[in-house]
Order: sequence, then C-alpha cells, then structure tokens
Amino acid sequence: MEDSSKSDFDDIFETGDIFADRELLRVGHVPKLNRVVGRDEEVREVGSALGPATQGGPPETIIIYGKTGTGKSLVTRCTTREAHRKALENSSSFQYSYIDCSDYQTEAKASREMAQELCENLGADVNVPRVGIASSDYRDIVWELLDEHGIESYVVILDEIDKLENNEILRSLSRARESGKSDAHVGVICISNKIGYRDRLNERIDSSLQDNELFFHPYDANQLRNILENRRDAFTEGVLESDVIPKAAALAAQEHGDARKAVDILYEAGRLVEKAGDEMVTVEHVDDAQTKAEVNRFRELISGTTPHVKHALRALALLTENTTQDTFRTHKIYETYKRLVQQEGGDVLSEDRIYRLLKEQSFLGIIESNHTGGGLGEGSYLEHRLLGDSQVVTQALTEE
Ligand SMILES: Nc1ncnc2c1ncn2[C@@H]1O[C@H](COP(=O)(O)OP(=O)(O)OP(=O)(O)O)[C@@H](O)[C@H]1O
Ligand SMILES: [Mg+2]
Repeated sequence: MEDSSKSDFDDIFETGDIFADRELLRVGHVPKLNRVVGRDEEVREVGSALGPATQGGPPETIIIYGKTGTGKSLVTRCTTREAHRKALENSSSFQYSYIDCSDYQTEAKASREMAQELCENLGADVNVPRVGIASSDYRDIVWELLDEHGIESYVVILDEIDKLENNEILRSLSRARESGKSDAHVGVICISNKIGYRDRLNERIDSSLQDNELFFHPYDANQLRNILENRRDAFTEGVLESDVIPKAAALAAQEHGDARKAVDILYEAGRLVEKAGDEMVTVEHVDDAQTKAEVNRFRELISGTTPHVKHALRALALLTENTTQDTFRTHKIYETYKRLVQQEGGDVLSEDRIYRLLKEQSFLGIIESNHTGGGLGEGSYLEHRLLGDSQVVTQALTEE
C-alpha cells in the first residue's frame, strides 16, 4: 500500500519564507490605529466630530475629501472603532455602520448593508431579508435595533458616497431624530475621492454641513516611506534589500502620493519573489511589481462597471495603442466599440449612450474628457483620453 499521492502534491501549497504576516499588506486590511502614520491631525479632527457621541451626545456630521490612497477610509474606520471603545469606557452606548457604497450602489442595497452591519456590531440575532422589502423598511430595522438596544449615538460611514444612486439615505439619516424615527443621535461621515462630487452634494444637503469638510492631502515620499517601514514586519526579517522600501515609496510618490499603491507595490514585489522561489526582495522586483500594482488598481476602478463601459474603455485603449494620438472623439471610439461588441455577438448601445457613459467615466477619473472647438462650422465636440497607461488598461480588462 502506497500513500505517496498525498506528498506528491504537498509542495503546491508551499509559500516560502518571504512573508511573516502577509495580511498586513493586503487591500482591505484595516490596521490598528497605532499603525496609522502621519495623520495625527486628521485622526484628531474625526475624533473631535465623534467626541460627543462617545458620551451619549450627538456626533457631528463630516464630509471627507481627498485623492485615492490618502488614508480617508483607514483613518475613519480606525477612529470610529476607537470611539466605540471609548464609549464603552464611558458606559455610553455608541454604534456605527460602515458602508462601502461602491459595493452597495443602490438605495436598497446600501440600506440593507446599514442594517446588516449594525446587526453584526450589536451581535443581534435579527434576520435582515436579502430581498423583497423596500429601502425604507431596511432603515426601519435600523431604527428598531437602535431603540431595542438603547443606543444613544449612531454613526453611519458612507464611504465612496459618490457611487450611491441617490441621496435618500443621507436625507433620512439627517432627519431621523426630528422625524421621530429614532431617539438616538444620528451622525454621518461621508467620504469621497471625487472633488467634483462636492457641488453635487452641496446642492442636496444642509449648508451647515459645508463647514465640516475635511481634506486629506497626498503623502510625500517620506511619509510613504514611514507607512511602509511601519509594515516591515509583514516580511520575514532580513529579506528586504535596503533600497526596497525607499524605491516603492518613491514610485508611489511620483504619481500623487497614493499609499495604497505603495503598499500594493511592496506586496506584489514580495509575491514575485515568492513565486520565483528566491530569497531576497530587490529593487528590480519593485520595478516589476509597479506594473502589477497599476493593473490591480485599474481593475478595482472598473470593477463595478458594465460590460459596455469595459468595451468602450478597451476601444479607447486600442486606439491609443495603435495610433500616435492619445485623444479621440466620441464618434471614433464608438466605431471601435461597435466592432468589439459585434465580434462578441452582443447588442450595441447607441452612440448617445456611449457618449454619456464616457462622460461618466471622466467624472470617475478613469478618462479625461474635454470639449474642443471643431473646425469652421463644425461646432464643439467631446474628446477623450485615457488617464492610465493603455497597456495597463488592456491587461486589466483582459484579466477581468
Ligand atoms: N497614514 C497611513 N498609515 C498607514 N497606512 C496607510 C496610511 N494611509 C493609507 N494607508 C494604507 O494605504 C491604503 C489606502 O488607504 P485608504 O484605503 O484609507 O485610502 P483612501 O483615501 O480611502 O482611498 P480611496 O479614495 O481610493 O478609497 C490602505 O491599505 C491603508 O492601510
Ligand atoms: Mg477609501
């Protein structure tokens, strides 16, 4: 009797000795407040908005803006978690729900997530139906939970709020107490990396909110270096060549000081070494990891979009790669888009729809769209340009 089959395959799970704790470098990992580097002032501001809520009072509502990877989600989540701890210490009952609106874009889905998160944080044994009830019914579950558990202060974090289809949730939260839905003090933290969203939001909300804006500025290379140094223990001691962290920080600083990119480059560099079965992470690995990190980022950017948007972006990437230009009129992109869709035997959207989808992508920071005056008698038209590297875009779309 032989039982060699087991050991034959054992090595496919081999991970090597590069990482000591890879979780520290994973996207979505929320480190402890003591790993947050160089955001003391921002932590303090969020803390002071939540301060009253840690004593059973009303939290202040704030809006946080800043470019991608500047620590908005991190600081907010860590500080809110800390506020919860502080409230316990004060014997006050504080609760919160965190909603990443890019995952829950409709009013119903986001409202459900709000209820679900509250349930989990309360450890309540309530069945929140997956479908079949109205958005306001999900919110009623929230009010009931707050009531039943005697919650004095409740904060909802609406992350990536620009992805939300409408502002009903915001409206209902800001009126919860005066409309008698809830006895709890309710506050909201809105987060967005779209500065253009400011005007859209300002039209719809109370002007008092506009005093509570908080901007997160991009990191410089030094700060990025500190952030990475603070996660060095993700790696086994001694596997990082001395220039690895400075190099990863410098690459991420080049664009606009994006900490997510810095962390991701470092992780992907480690992964490359792990896959190759090598022993040391070198600056060459960091260079190779940069492209991978860019592809990851772009994939994340387009993850919630429809196939038509993806076809249109692929069309733009194709045009960019195969010509000497980098800006193209809507009509030109549309022709290529049509060809791509027809090759796959799909239904083609109208040119007007594609025009509007492209404009939306411009709002989302994936492409840049500008009005340009045409020649004599041509009128003005919209021209589009990919913001990322076309090869990165193509690779990300192919991996999808
Ligand atoms: N000050 C910091 N200290 C330690 N790690 C940080 C810091 N700022 C950001 N990071 C890390 O960088 C990554 C991105 O940060 P975060 O998710 O907070 O960015 P963001 O501002 O919310 O970006 P986006 O607008 O794209 O959502 C996370 O992995 C986070 O842990
Ligand atoms: Mg974020």
